[in-house]
Formats: sequence, C-alpha cells, structure tokens
Amino acid sequence: MELIKITEGQTKLWVPDAEKYKLDSKMPVFFNQVMRLNRDITVDIVKTLDKPKSLDLLAGTGAKGLRLAVEANSKVDLNDANPSAAKLIKRNAKLNKVSVEVFNDSANKLLRKSRRTYDFIDVDPFGTPVPFLQESIAHLRKGGILGVTATDTSALCGTYPKACMRKYESLNRKTQMMFEIGTRILIKKVVSEGLNMGVALEPVFVHSSNHYMRVYLRRVENLRKIRKNLKFLFLCSDCFTWKFEDKLPETKVRCGCGTYSEVLGPLWTGSLYDKKLLKQMSDSNKTVQKIKEEVDVFGYYDYHMMSKKLEDVGELPKMDVIIEKIRKKGFKASRTHFSPTGIKTNLPAKSFLRLLYS
Ligand SMILES: C[S@@+](CC[C@H](N)C(=O)[O-])C[C@H]1O[C@@H](n2cnc3c(N)ncnc32)[C@H](O)[C@@H]1O
Ligand SMILES: [Zn+2]
Repeated sequence: MELIKITEGQTKLWVPDAEKYKLDSKMPVFFNQVMRLNRDITVDIVKTLDKPKSLDLLAGTGAKGLRLAVEANSKVDLNDANPSAAKLIKRNAKLNKVSVEVFNDSANKLLRKSRRTYDFIDVDPFGTPVPFLQESIAHLRKGGILGVTATDTSALCGTYPKACMRKYESLNRKTQMMFEIGTRILIKKVVSEGLNMGVALEPVFVHSSNHYMRVYLRRVENLRKIRKNLKFLFLCSDCFTWKFEDKLPETKVRCGCGTYSEVLGPLWTGSLYDKKLLKQMSDSNKTVQKIKEEVDVFGYYDYHMMSKKLEDVGELPKMDVIIEKIRKKGFKASRTHFSPTGIKTNLPAKSFLRLLYS
C-alpha cells in the first residue's frame, strides 16, 4: 500500500496516498480527507466528556479514534474488519505514542462478545449505519454519546422513497427541506432502536451536507419525553405550511389551502441541539459557527421556492433583509446550515408570506 504521512488536528497519520487510489470502499484502507470536518467536530464533542472511554467501531486508518486519544484525552478502542486497516491503526498509534486497543473483527460480532461499555461510540460505515445501531446502543453508558454517520443521503433525503422505507421505515419525498428531513428521519431511526431496547436517546448535535448526515445522541433517562417527539409531518408544497400528527391518516390529507399535503415520517420533531454542549464547542469551525447562530426550530422556508411562487408579485427582498424584518416583529429567524437558501423561523408560513411584502 502506498502511504503518505499527514497531520490532522494534532495527530499524525499514515494514510493511503489519495493520488494513487480511487476514493471508494475498494481502497486498501479507506480514508477520506474531506471527512476531516466530521472528525474535527467529533473531537470537539468528546472533549466535553469527563475522562471518556471511546470506541471507534469502524475505524479505517484509525484517524478519528486516534484523534480522540491524542486530542480529547480519551481512552480508546478501535476496530475494523479489514486486516490491513487494523495493521495501519497499530502503526498510527505508535506514531502518536498513544496506548489504545485495536480489534480486527466484524463490528457486530465484536460488540456481541464484548462486555465493555463506552462514553462515546462512533459509527461511521459505508452507506447506512442501521445494521450497527442496536449493538452500539447496547454498549453505551448512561450520559454517553453515540455519533452516527449516514452517507446514503439519496434514501434519507427522499430521492429514493422506497429505500428510505426499507432502511429507515419512514415515508419520504424530496421536499424544500429535504436535508433537515433526512437528518430527522435518521434521528428517528436511532431513537426508535433505542426505545425498542428501553434506552432513551436524545439528539445533542447534528450537521448535514450533500454527501452525508451526522447525528450525535446522548443516552438520557426520560423514555416518555423522547417518544413524544416522534411524529408524522404533513407538509404543503403550495402554501409552505406544515403540521405534525401522531398517526398516519387513512385517506389523503388536504392542507387548509386545498392542496394535498405530503405525508412524511415518522421523524424526530424535537430540538436538535443541546445548548450547553453548543456553548462548549469551539468557534474555530465554520459549520459549528453557523450552527451556533441557527434558530433551533423545526424546518425552514426555502427562499428560491418562495421567489418562484411569488414572481408575479415582484422580486423578493434579500434573505438577510427578510431575517431582519422577522426579528423586528419579535420572532426568531436565522439562516441554516441545512441549505444556503433556507430561512429558519418560528413565524408561521402565512405571516411569513405576508411579511415579505409589508
Ligand atoms: C467510512 S470507513 C471509516 C472511516 C473512518 N471513520 C475515518 O474517519 O477515516 C468504514 C470502515 O468500516 C470498515 N467496515 C465495513 N464493514 C465493517 C464491519 N461489518 N465490521 C467492521 N468494520 C467494517 C471498513 O473496512 C472501513 O474501514
Ligand atoms: Zn397549503
């Protein structure tokens, strides 16, 4: 394998030379430099835990787990089914002079025979994380955090509704807020797996991009409170209003404006961020900066869709002008990292549309 030596954060790593290998699951050991953001944020979150013990379940080169050992002062176990990966992880551990335990096993097999529990477990597979959720949850300590990546965004964002139903058991369609909906469907899946095992999990941080979604959930106590946040979403693509329902309707549902609503979900409807955790996170990361400024409410209005719908009325004010207008009315409003054209606000759609021309 042709390796190059890099430094990510404060951690040195031997990784496959990106110029020599195609970036796919057939790489001798998988490493994607672009996922640095994912690893940076993980380090930041694990730093907030007290003397953590972490598990990097699908570790590849060990980049993430080793960064936790070096930069977040965590004890770490790392695992990968690929023998070349396990070998490289050991080499990288030596390079950083950290003492970690390395396993070379199939993830669920390893967890099934292990009695260890962790304050942080990282699940970073190729594609969907669903096969690894149950076993990971079973090994998560109270107050511990589970970090889950999903790269099957076409299923989660509604491009392939059947794949979403098969893997995540939620109805889905491409909509104006597909990245947030995808993230909330992923959360729902993790939360439901937890509930089935009598474990309450609550999201504390999430971020999404075109290529992947990443959610962090903390093991908490209150099962009932968690369950109440899983609902169906009725979304009108015509007047942009939405509402939540506990049950799937038996017939098609019309919105107040007369149009049939899209029925999506079930999905997580509650808060996405733990404010205390957000405050503790570093401001040096651009995505985290954006998220810190984001209003933590459900959904967003899409500026492009609004302009299209209202083009006969005239040009829309700029996004930042709209946001200022909403704030002046006493409502919350912000941009959102989920979409460059999204506006998050607690102002209802009707008032939002009226305000655009006031
Ligand atoms: C996306 S990569 C992990 C990347 C790594 N977390 C990082 O930040 O660089 C997924 C890894 O999971 C490993 N893998 C896939 N299926 C597995 C399984 N069932 N058990 C254990 N490892 C597995 C692959 O060999 C690959 O190294
Ligand atoms: Zn409507």
